[in-house]
Amino acid sequence: MSREWKARSRVAAVILAAGEGTRMKSDLPKILHKISGRPMIAYVADAVKDAGINRVLVVVNQKLEELSAQMGKAQIVIQKEQLGTAHALQKAEPYLRDFTGTVMVLCGDTPLISPATMRDMAIYHQKTGAAATVLTVTMKNPRSYGRIVRKEGSIERIVEEKDASAEERKIREVNTGTYCFDKEKLFLSLPKIQRENRQREFYLTDVVETLRNEGEKIASYEASEEDEVMGVNTCKELAEAERLMRLRIIEKWMAKGVTFIDPASSFVGGEVKIGKDTTVYPYTFLEGKTTIGARCVIGPSVRLIDSRIGKEVEIQYAVVRDSTVEDRASLGPFCSLRAGARIKRGSKVGSFVEIKKSEIGEGSKVPHLSYVGDAVIGKNVNVGAGTVTCNYDGVKKNRTVIEDDVFVGSDTMLIAPVRIGKGAVTGAGSVITKNVPPYSLGLERSEQKNIKGWAKKKKQDRKKCK
Ligand code: UD1
Ligand code: CA
Repeated sequence: MSREWKARSRVAAVILAAGEGTRMKSDLPKILHKISGRPMIAYVADAVKDAGINRVLVVVNQKLEELSAQMGKAQIVIQKEQLGTAHALQKAEPYLRDFTGTVMVLCGDTPLISPATMRDMAIYHQKTGAAATVLTVTMKNPRSYGRIVRKEGSIERIVEEKDASAEERKIREVNTGTYCFDKEKLFLSLPKIQRENRQREFYLTDVVETLRNEGEKIASYEASEEDEVMGVNTCKELAEAERLMRLRIIEKWMAKGVTFIDPASSFVGGEVKIGKDTTVYPYTFLEGKTTIGARCVIGPSVRLIDSRIGKEVEIQYAVVRDSTVEDRASLGPFCSLRAGARIKRGSKVGSFVEIKKSEIGEGSKVPHLSYVGDAVIGKNVNVGAGTVTCNYDGVKKNRTVIEDDVFVGSDTMLIAPVRIGKGAVTGAGSVITKNVPPYSLGLERSEQKNIKGWAKKKKQDRKKCK
């Protein structure tokens, strides 16, 4: 962090997040809409923290009071009625009575903003000694943003799109909704703001004109790119923010040596970790607190949720939730690991296999068409195609234990609770209801009858009928 950033203790951040987000046309408050798996407010809060700002206030509406649990040390401020951004900021004033310095204002719907921009802007603001510094950006298409109206080069006022004249709408320099203020001057001028505008709201942007009229200095700091400061007001903008955030996360992992075959069709949540020389194939979703070790091959078409994947693991066409997959194991194609699966070193779970709350021991294989639930499988076990642990008796779930070196014949039904002893074998097609002792054969099958000539006779009978 820059040496110049010594002044950070003199910066308090206020995140405005009480708006209803009517343009989202959603029952969910806007700032709780997720981007790469996390509510957008979380990104703003993290960026503030990463900028080294310790004093943080978040203005929310009453519906969002429970958000406080997720906001760490931030002070939650309630704005009961949403009367505009100036009104929202005013609600923070009583909580800053003991504070002197710079108040940085951010919007909860600007999730891509970086800590570096915040820091650079605050340093600039403190250097120039301005009463207000506006973070601006020049956009190709300014859409609904407030326009920066300048007079002889310096900012005169900010005009909202809805209140702007046709001429003002042509201005491409816009307000990003991020500002630095001298605290005393800010809170003296906020009460002077009127709501004489198209939306009948108290606009924070009007503070600029008020301060200027009082002879105060207004500065501007230009953001280097427009993507970083985009506001999310509609579902369309949410999808755009999602795309940008996804790329940003993936680029971070690519810089650390992870290969993505197609970043555009891969999804990596903000809390995921990936080891180097791992390759991610398309249509892959890495979510929650998933961690992946080095030299893995993940995808195509894999969804990993809150799971731990070791080194050199291969997974294709699979869904893995709340599970652990150890080094050199392989999964898929087409398998589902439900909560509590533990696939140990070098073992294999193959096609059309479902595993739930079970351990598959080192070097064991469940290659085809099986259900394994509430089971503990030892080392070097082979589970034949079509095997089912019948774990549920309609009342409770029962355990199956398969010891090391067992060979489970194809289509074995293991009626739990049941134990197959070390080195034992079960005959294909058996319904195993009793424990099988070590090194024994468990066989449950009626004897086969062969009726000589039966099929031939049947064919002749059919011919006669025609
Ligand atoms: C605002 C700015 C606009 C700027 C744009 C940048 C104003 C008047 N306009 O417009 O100049 O270009 O941001 O993205 O400030 N909020 C509250 N309480 C309220 C109203 C809003 O907390 O009563 C919060 C919202 O949750 C949101 C932020 O303030 O996080 C901005 O409000 P929003 O309604 O999105 O303003 P814009 O129309 O985008
Ligand atoms: Ca907005």
